[in-house]
Amino acid sequence: MKRRVFSGVQPTGDLHLGNYLGAIRNFVRLQNDSECLYCVVDLHAVTVWQEPMKLAANTREVAAAFLAAGINPTNSIIFNQSQVSAHAELAWVFNCVSRVGWLNRMTQFKEKAGKRRENASTGLYVYPNLMAADILTYKATHVPVGEDQKQHLELTRDIAIKFNNDFGIDFFPIVEPLIFGEATRVMSLRDGTNKMSKSDPSDYSRINLTDSPDAIAQKIRKAKTDPEALPGPAALINEGKEIDPDQEKARPEAFNLLSIYAALSEQSLVSVLGQFEGAQFSSFKNKLVDLSVEKLGPIGNEMQRLMADPGYVDGVLKDGAMRANTIAEPILKEAHKILGFLST
Ligand code: AMP
Ligand code: TRP
Repeated sequence: MKRRVFSGVQPTGDLHLGNYLGAIRNFVRLQNDSECLYCVVDLHAVTVWQEPMKLAANTREVAAAFLAAGINPTNSIIFNQSQVSAHAELAWVFNCVSRVGWLNRMTQFKEKAGKRRENASTGLYVYPNLMAADILTYKATHVPVGEDQKQHLELTRDIAIKFNNDFGIDFFPIVEPLIFGEATRVMSLRDGTNKMSKSDPSDYSRINLTDSPDAIAQKIRKAKTDPEALPGPAALINEGKEIDPDQEKARPEAFNLLSIYAALSEQSLVSVLGQFEGAQFSSFKNKLVDLSVEKLGPIGNEMQRLMADPGYVDGVLKDGAMRANTIAEPILKEAHKILGFLST
């Protein structure tokens, strides 16, 4: 049997290079040998305030990015979360399986709620339970995400294990995170110790997928660096597979830009470090600009074309929701039976 893959992206605006290299590009690669569901998670987005008109446009933008990146809507299922009610229904069940102590450990909640924790929505708090429901309502087994979602997927595993134990049944699968590629955690161009993020107030901190070639070039040229020449393969440990943590700490911007180059050029980091060892940032940046424009330009153009045709995008989402629903419904029904919910 083909393995089933599920992943989600929030329609919160400004899709960036981190979303692409950490997640969306991997979605494309998995569709050949897996049954894939890719979801625009609008229910997750409203855990923080969203302007309704913008939310609708951003939902189409994420769907357009999926298509522009190369997800085939005939093989894979592309849809928005609110159209399949099983997500919200199973999330309620998981609110009753998951524990307050587990949610209290979630670092993303702490980061997002910040000092105004008392004022955060209760949805933001139970966000990881909904994420578990997204995945398990399809009994998906593999979940491609960026590094930052690892903890949420551990919680998904805990919820599945507890549900199975509580009811003495082997019902939900224990999901495997798929975190791969040379850029599973892309950092801000302004500060290599912060993650590249949609919510960073500075647009110069990220490369958006819809940026023009000029904007891409300008952002890379302005990206923070340090005064040293570029490091070589000696900065890697574990047979060239990992960056020495001390070196990375000392030069986070350099390693971030080099990792982006490796990911975009589909080379290993060790080979990129070999090529640029001792080079100056200025010449490396020129190469990075060319590569970024070459790889991201066509995706940005195709996104713009698709966003100008909302009828087509909406059709893809509608068809996807129907197909997703067909898989989710019977699984939810079975879960209800296990719980003892009477259906008359
Ligand atoms: P989000 O925009 O928060 O819905 O994230 C969508 C996907 O992009 C998730 O799989 C994230 O893990 C991934 N992602 C977000 N930011 C980054 C980043 N800076 N580097 C790598 N992956 C990221
Ligand atoms: N929480 C994820 C993020 O912010 C998005 C998401 C929602 C997701 N549901 C999911 C990712 C299910 C993988 C599987 O990036």
